Amino acid sequence: MEKLLFEISQKGKKGIDLPKCDVEEIHQEEVLDKDYLRKELNLPEVSQLEVIRHFTRLSQLNFSIDTNFYPLGSCTMKYNPRINEKVSSFEGFLNVHPFQDEETVQGILEAAYLLKEYLKELGGFADVSLQPAAGAHGELLGLLLIAAYHRDKGNKEKDTVLIPDSAHGTNPASAAIAGFKVLTVKSDKNGELDWNDFVKKLDNRVAALMITNPNTLGIFERKIKEIAKALHEKDALLYMDGANFNALVGRMRPGDWGVDVMHFNLHKTFSTPHGGGGPGSGPVGVSERLKPYLPVPQVEFDGEKYYLNWDIPKTVGKLLAFYGHVGIWIRALAFILAYGKEIFKVADNAILNARYLRKQLQGVFNDPYAHVPCMHEFVLSATNLKRYGVKALDVAKRLLDFGIHPPTMYFPLIVPEALMVEPTETENKETLDYFAKVCKQIVEEAKTDPQKVKNAPYKTPVRRVKEAEANRRPILKYPFKSS
Ligand SMILES: Cc1ncc(COP(=O)(O)O)c(C=O)c1O
Repeated sequence: MEKLLFEISQKGKKGIDLPKCDVEEIHQEEVLDKDYLRKELNLPEVSQLEVIRHFTRLSQLNFSIDTNFYPLGSCTMKYNPRINEKVSSFEGFLNVHPFQDEETVQGILEAAYLLKEYLKELGGFADVSLQPAAGAHGELLGLLLIAAYHRDKGNKEKDTVLIPDSAHGTNPASAAIAGFKVLTVKSDKNGELDWNDFVKKLDNRVAALMITNPNTLGIFERKIKEIAKALHEKDALLYMDGANFNALVGRMRPGDWGVDVMHFNLHKTFSTPHGGGGPGSGPVGVSERLKPYLPVPQVEFDGEKYYLNWDIPKTVGKLLAFYGHVGIWIRALAFILAYGKEIFKVADNAILNARYLRKQLQGVFNDPYAHVPCMHEFVLSATNLKRYGVKALDVAKRLLDFGIHPPTMYFPLIVPEALMVEPTETENKETLDYFAKVCKQIVEEAKTDPQKVKNAPYKTPVRRVKEAEANRRPILKYPFKSS
């Protein structure tokens, strides 16, 4: 392990020389009550070179899309073009204050309005709210809108949300937080929503179905229009999790299928940074049914100027401080404008890459849905390595030794030893071939020297950790010795 700055600190070392103080010095004990006096700060004393080396080394420990292949299924870890960063850091976007008068921030309001209009067009929606801070936050908003709709219509019995067993964990969590009961619907042998189970469970208590399309197996839900129709006949609504919109953008519009509400994960489809748990952005598109309940404020244009509309009588209220993650919106807008009318190429190439890679991996791992074409991602199963005592987790750890971020593992829950691979459209053929070659080598190692795979990784800064302990008892603080 590298030493921390506190550990290399030596009394008297300095990083910089500050100019001599040229104003009268005031000592805090002369002006402040003793309860408010600042204690001695325990700061490391190090040279400038030590600081530079320390932080440069730390930055190199990061695993990132800028350095390595990152096929994390359902997360769409695509390359973030630097032009997006440049545009979002233009002075006019960067230095505005949320309390400025509308007349002085027309540019930023125009950018927000444009993004809203593009998302409406791409999703086929009546309106879009840009407010949510992430996909899961968008889910919560979607469900609050659904609850508001049923409340407004006096649909008192509608307290249940149907969710397929392949869904992402945030779906049932969001439904529960919004106050709904959750009822699981099975998947069929093709990996799609089991129609019979769906129809059986679709009674008057159902407020909505939350479905992901393509779903988390990377499989397109072909009955999506029939599903919408069946729901609407019962005055239930269709929520679509738009995390996998990368497979559709520019080619298909969920609003045209009858979807009532969908979140876009800007940080997935439109290449904005995922951040460390944020700041993301999860705008929500809605059909006419849900438009009256959108959060305030909405960015509008009256033909002359852009303004924030707070006058939405049935609004569910406000979801986030100020207006949303503006810097992320600008990046997404730059991405959309850069592609223009050719944005469908994102979906085309994402699907092409996934299908190519899946073919390369044929026979390497099990492919439980091999008979169904995949969209932008696919889910394999490492159960073929069970007999050698090797698990999906071991494969994931060994991939790190080859400079590859592991695919999403053990999700969706309906595939045992799942490895969910999403190459995205931004990777080239050489990278995909390298990944396939490495997977083949790891499977060969599992057969001939399983211990080698089970002890991996060997080349990472931290070797194999105890998974449960690292999760439940993480050491997040430096244990200072009390002096
Ligand atoms: C299918 C699916 N739904 C929802 C989410 C939640 O999105 P976010 O991470 O933006 O909150 C994810 C995130 O990975 C996802 O894959």
